[in-house]
Amino acid sequence: MKIGLLTSGGDCAGLNAVMRGFAKSAYKQIPSAEIVGILGGYAGLIDGEFRQMKKEEFNGILTVGGTVLGSSRLPYKLVSSVVDKGSKVEAMKATYKKLGLDALVVLGGAGSHKTAALLSTEGLNVVGLPKTIDNDIWDTDMTFGFHSAMAIATECIDRIRTTAQSHKRTFVVEIMGNKVGWLTLYAGLAGGANVILLPEIPYDITKVIKAVDRFTKAQSDKSCIIAVAEGAMDKKEVSMGKKERSKKRTERGETTASNRIAAAVGEALNIETRVVVPGHTQRGGIPSAYDRVLCTQIGAYGADLVAQKKFGVTVALQGNKITYNQLADIAGKPKLVPIDHPLIQTAISIDVSFGE
Ligand code: F6P
Repeated sequence: MKIGLLTSGGDCAGLNAVMRGFAKSAYKQIPSAEIVGILGGYAGLIDGEFRQMKKEEFNGILTVGGTVLGSSRLPYKLVSSVVDKGSKVEAMKATYKKLGLDALVVLGGAGSHKTAALLSTEGLNVVGLPKTIDNDIWDTDMTFGFHSAMAIATECIDRIRTTAQSHKRTFVVEIMGNKVGWLTLYAGLAGGANVILLPEIPYDITKVIKAVDRFTKAQSDKSCIIAVAEGAMDKKEVSMGKKERSKKRTERGETTASNRIAAAVGEALNIETRVVVPGHTQRGGIPSAYDRVLCTQIGAYGADLVAQKKFGVTVALQGNKITYNQLADIAGKPKLVPIDHPLIQTAISIDVSFGE
């Protein structure tokens, strides 16, 4: 049985751990298993870039960051556009056929799952494995990579907190997440942030300023930490389209969410504010112990699905159980933070401000 493995979209800690789990389980239960690594994500499937994998290559990569196969972003709208659909999808199908694949296993996030679902409807035998630090894949409690990123973002807040205390400063820590705020919510709570701003809960800057004023006055060390998701937006921006929003921001010389908020707070309260952006450190390095276990479970279960020839599905964590969903049921449904999520209630009950 010839199986193609592919890592797509932004990388994260745990990709190699998942591939290791998958390969070890596949080689054990499918005597004829042969694994082909598709290089550089879907682009490699289009261009026919691949590498025949040796069994030994999956040893020693449990803790290695990044992806041994390389990755790339290929926006779904490019794959599915009327103009490009023919060429890109047909090229992917042609490579699949040329390589004689019996299955294609895609480690990817929400966008990559849309393409996986499309390839499945086009007749390829696809199994998805839910990757992303954003944790925004529908109907899985957690994606792999999220826990590791949360640990890194939390450590960043922990380290900033001491300097904020030493220097009586307000720090704005910008956490990854353009459309969804799971990472900011979890890391913000774990790091004891005073203010947490998520894309799902547009903020009122005057309320943010009031909250910072209250916290800095109440705390003996006058420190304050604002955890802000990179996609957080002001209430006034909600009704604007993406283009109008970025035009207005450019006109006002505003750059990132954290810079906007730090400037507004600093000016209104006449206090010193600083911005810290952990950025891609949140995606790099070794996976957390929790992620290593989850990755191994997800990879091994993915091999079970391939062995059972259960295709058109993606692995999911529900409760403590590893299971699967139909690709068609989850593709294109981003899992946003519900505004009545219990963690938000918990945060509010301990006096965290969401800038509302
Ligand atoms: O999808 C994961 C993610 O890290 C997002 O949180 C972030 O907005 C985006 O990727 C950054 O993408 P890139 O690495 O392409 O700049």
